[in-house]
Amino acid sequence: MKKPTKAVIPVAGLGTRFLPATKSIPKEMLTIVDAPIIFYVIEEAIHAGIQDIVLIQGRGKTAIEDFFDTSYELEDKLMRDNKYYLLDRLNEIRNKVNIISIRQKHPLGLGHAVLCAQPVLGNEPFAVLLGDEIMLPQAPHEDYTTAELSKAFEATGHSTVAIMSIQEVDVQKYGIVDFGGRLPQEFPARVAGFVEKPNLNNAPSLWALPGRYIFSSSILDELKNQKPGKLGEIQLTDAMNSLSKKEPVYALPTRNIRYDAGDKVGYPIANIEIGLRHPDVGPFLRNYLQNQLPLLLKQTARPS
Ligand code: UTP
Repeated sequence: MKKPTKAVIPVAGLGTRFLPATKSIPKEMLTIVDAPIIFYVIEEAIHAGIQDIVLIQGRGKTAIEDFFDTSYELEDKLMRDNKYYLLDRLNEIRNKVNIISIRQKHPLGLGHAVLCAQPVLGNEPFAVLLGDEIMLPQAPHEDYTTAELSKAFEATGHSTVAIMSIQEVDVQKYGIVDFGGRLPQEFPARVAGFVEKPNLNNAPSLWALPGRYIFSSSILDELKNQKPGKLGEIQLTDAMNSLSKKEPVYALPTRNIRYDAGDKVGYPIANIEIGLRHPDVGPFLRNYLQNQLPLLLKQTARPS
């Protein structure tokens, strides 16, 4: 089966976990070191051979479209000052993918956001990458998660989703995979179902969905048939569960490091860790942390 060339990146959520910062700035535009979160997500899609990115936009998210647009005044000045190279990383993205925007009129959930992309997707398989999560390979020779999923899809021809192992205390935060009572010995492994944010007692496994998927187009039919669940939202996990009862859906563990950058704790962690890997910023940050961290930890410790 041919690898997908289209990816849906939903960015229409309200970002309530990161208020007040996200009152007027989309969380996907918050900066990690020197680029917005969405930038890292699109770079991952490009590594997987994606050519068309469908951004599911909501109200107040025009900053994302503007970011990928040409900014004549700025670009002209950079050209004249011989500093156009400052836009190299952005231009690489602009030259490699088409960015298509679709409006999600109301934030009716992740499943609904994905369904909004249907007019562009047709009957082709496609990738979904959550716009507020950054996934990075642990070592330079390793692949990005979406590229790994894409390879698996090429081999099996069936929907394949990334999974990661989590601690019991985190079960209620994620969609969880049901392997039908037995833990697979080999991956990609066919799943028996999915459950959205279960209680620990009902959790079928400790394998969670980190927000990277490749779907056959049948997921769109399942999404259309979904009734709104908790909080009136259409859940992607529920549609995946129905799909897995009708056709094979595979799960593939990722070794990538995942940053939940749309979260108040995940965000600074992403800045520190990605900053440490950055060629210009890394040495300064490392030096600062080495010298200041012990003192800083002492000064900010809460009295026990
Ligand atoms: P989240 O649940 O993390 O986003 O959805 P949110 O709703 O913005 O977050 P909080 O909980 O209120 O802080 C994951 C991704 O799906 C998008 C979000 O923009 C985010 O990138 N999303 C979510 C949509 O596009 N539409 C929706 O209706 C919901």
